[in-house]
Amino acid sequence: MGRRCWPRRALAAACLGAALLLLGAAPRALSPAFENSLGSGWLGGKRRSPLQMLYDLDQGPRSALAEVHRQRRDLLRRACSRHTRRQRLLGPEDLRHVLVDDAHGLLYCYVPKVACTNWKRVLLALSGRARGDPLAIPAHEAHAPGRLPSLADFSPAEINRRLRAYLAVLFVREPFERLASAYRNKFARPYSAAFQQRYGTRIVRRLRPRAHPDALARGHDVRFAEFLAYLLDPRTRREEPFNEHWERAHALCHPCRLRYDVVGKFETLAEDAAFVLGLVGASGLRFPAPPPRAKGAAARDLAERLFRDISPFYQRRLFDLYRMDFLLFNYSAPSYLRLH
Ligand SMILES: *[C@@H]1O[C@H](CO)[C@@H](O)[C@H](O)[C@H]1NC(C)=O
Repeated sequence: MGRRCWPRRALAAACLGAALLLLGAAPRALSPAFENSLGSGWLGGKRRSPLQMLYDLDQGPRSALAEVHRQRRDLLRRACSRHTRRQRLLGPEDLRHVLVDDAHGLLYCYVPKVACTNWKRVLLALSGRARGDPLAIPAHEAHAPGRLPSLADFSPAEINRRLRAYLAVLFVREPFERLASAYRNKFARPYSAAFQQRYGTRIVRRLRPRAHPDALARGHDVRFAEFLAYLLDPRTRREEPFNEHWERAHALCHPCRLRYDVVGKFETLAEDAAFVLGLVGASGLRFPAPPPRAKGAAARDLAERLFRDISPFYQRRLFDLYRMDFLLFNYSAPSYLRLH
């Protein structure tokens, strides 16, 4: 919140209300009228902003890739109007995951388990906060809090200005592959002691009758079925929001409230990253190589193997939990599920 907003509750509410009205406004179109306002809106100044670049692309004969992205945007908008009812208003803190590059006029909403470490590295390199090859930036540095500014750090007026003038991008992934990847990374591998300690012990305590004292103390052997039961347990989200590694992408990035110009996908990471970097005018920057095809197939196999052992009842409930991510981003229900 801006400083002007905090002294009195009523005033604070009014400030927030003004901001949220704008945040909640209909997604703005890439129209020429809007384009005229960019000059003052974009802090970068001289060259065409990434949003103007996208507008140019949409006016001319579209490349196949530009057409794919236009269709994804349209599908997202249609799915939003079909599947979302009146939603609560957003406050700045809801925008914590939207990272800001003022030098280029770029907003990137990060979804963990969707190449977000590499995107943070690229943003650090783009913004001049780190030099040289993005891959050389250590992961812990890319994730260090405050290393990259977030929209939540700005006042409502400053947030709205950026939302209007910047290119907004998010990257998503098939929801169950993402979930399987989060489980493997945070529970099934021996080196994620912090997650096992924080969440693993809680899961064992709550969901495993007659647990071994060692498991209660370390939370190191959580099974996939237990992890899913924890996600579906109503107490879990009553206590606190889901951890960002398994929170739904729509709940992290609010794609039906903010207007996203590019919906990138993990499944086509290399092409989509190059598309964004082209709009940003940083084609020379190399996005760290995405996993080779074989690893992509391995992620699919892992999800299939893990979910096959889950009862249809739980599969269905889990699909319901992640349904919006499937619908908004055009993923179909995996064929290995027994939903009917
Ligand atoms: C949605 O998914 C279907 C099936 O995979 C595909 O044929 C279609 O092109 C996709 N639509 C968009 C807009 O991405």
